[in-house]
Amino acid sequence: MSQTKRLSAEDLQNIYRSGENLVCLTAYTTPVARVLDKHCDLLLVGDSLGMVVYGMENTLGVTLDMMINHGKAVMRGVENAYVVVDMPYGSYEDCADKAVKNAQRVMDETGCDAIKIEGGLELMAIYQALADADIPTVAHIGLQPQSVVKEGGYKLKGRNDAETAELIQAAQEIEKTGVVALVIEGTVEQASRQIVAAVNIPTIGIGASPSCTGQILVSDDMLGLFVEHVPKFVKQYAQLAKVIDDAAGQYSREVRGRIFPSDAHVYKRAS
Ligand code: KIV
Repeated sequence: MSQTKRLSAEDLQNIYRSGENLVCLTAYTTPVARVLDKHCDLLLVGDSLGMVVYGMENTLGVTLDMMINHGKAVMRGVENAYVVVDMPYGSYEDCADKAVKNAQRVMDETGCDAIKIEGGLELMAIYQALADADIPTVAHIGLQPQSVVKEGGYKLKGRNDAETAELIQAAQEIEKTGVVALVIEGTVEQASRQIVAAVNIPTIGIGASPSCTGQILVSDDMLGLFVEHVPKFVKQYAQLAKVIDDAAGQYSREVRGRIFPSDAHVYKRAS
């Protein structure tokens, strides 16, 4: 666990008030968290790990134990960033007592700073229960990946006035419960801009336009490591799948050609 002082919710609020954008990425492991930490204000242990780490089709099979284990791993690598751990599907949405119990377990066992849940107005009782239990919470509205089966796919949000009005109302009601920040995913620019203007808390966009006061990407997407499907909102800043492919190819040629290990990699007796 880190000994230095990491960013607090108050620090995030101050960055937001200063007009600077919040820099956020996902992280799932200690070594990657260590590298991302100094560049980011917030690291999210996202349940996207179901796809990018475990090869699942969507996030619905992710368990609380998986999130706790990866939360612990990320916390071991972080000295600067505020760390948020996703509550997985089935761990919070149907019962306030269960939500509080599971969220408290994530906080206690990982030592993270906040948890994140997906949902809008339909989840107000859960947001309130988490607030009453003093559990720092990040809200996730707009496109909600945990609703992929219920909605029959990943559906862009804010496409008309009614959807936009509901998102704005949800953002404002959720803000009243004292959440740390609002993640807005997969939402058209005009709607995002109105949500951002309607609240006084950091808004962290993913596929939700530059109007948000912070941005987040799944790190495996932006590093070019998860390349099965690259959505429009992703910018690849590296091509790590290719780097790994090239390195493994060279290793394979050298092992087969008896080039590796060379003398430099061999233990010998001193005399
Ligand atoms: O699970 C995740 O990585 C997320 C981000 C897409 C915000 O929730």
